[in-house]
Amino acid sequence: TSARTPMVAGNWKMNFDHLEATAFVQRFAKNLRSRHFDFSRCEVALFPSFTSLRSVQVLVESEKLRIKYGAQTVSVTTQGAFTGDVSADMIAHLGCSYVIVGHSERRKYHPEDDANIVDQVRAVLAAGMQPILCVGESLEERRKGIELDFAVGQVHDVTRDLSDEEAAKLIIAYEPVWAIGTGMVATPQSAQDAAQAFREHLRATFNEHVAQAVRVLYGGSVSSKNAVELITEPDVDGFLIGGAALDVDELTRVCTLT
Ligand code: G3P
Repeated sequence: TSARTPMVAGNWKMNFDHLEATAFVQRFAKNLRSRHFDFSRCEVALFPSFTSLRSVQVLVESEKLRIKYGAQTVSVTTQGAFTGDVSADMIAHLGCSYVIVGHSERRKYHPEDDANIVDQVRAVLAAGMQPILCVGESLEERRKGIELDFAVGQVHDVTRDLSDEEAAKLIIAYEPVWAIGTGMVATPQSAQDAAQAFREHLRATFNEHVAQAVRVLYGGSVSSKNAVELITEPDVDGFLIGGAALDVDELTRVCTLT
């Protein structure tokens, strides 16, 4: 058994305005309370849009909720003439614990390459938060049978210049692109293979402590139907959830199963 606390992270993507977001958080908190959910056994985090973060913060703080939250991306610069961007400090000052970095949708629709993602990771760490670094192959790499090399390569490219101390704060989300929003979930074995490969890479690049400390989440069509078999794998430490995180009862079920 590992000392890592499992984590369920709900990535809302571009869904819910601030009123819908706070209504969701209220119902979610009530659901978890009524099930005597133990937050020390499993961490729970939500990733609303920037426009909802302040409302979520006010609610979480006023009701002393143990639900954590974070942003879906971050600027690589600290301040200045960058219209439309949001800095890591701005996000941290809203009580955020985490920032999702390098999600495949960001890599696809925005000019976020590895160099930019490295800088985002650094910005998040410098602001005292933890990055959830998303990696994962597309169908093309999977068909060629190079999915593990590809995903480990992405981890390598983004983390190689981090210090041991910085690397220990990472959370990695393995999200095969073909599994996102498709209903095609990776098999528990392939999620485990990827998580284990990341850990071996971290051990070789950094040290045993880093390899054991970093949580590896699986993302891609996770639901209450497949959560149990995935979380049973020794190196899978939780989930980054899209679609199922938009349904408060379904997300509650995944939390209680994790
Ligand atoms: O970040 C989570 C995500 O990309 C997975 O989405 O809808 O397949 O759970 P979904």
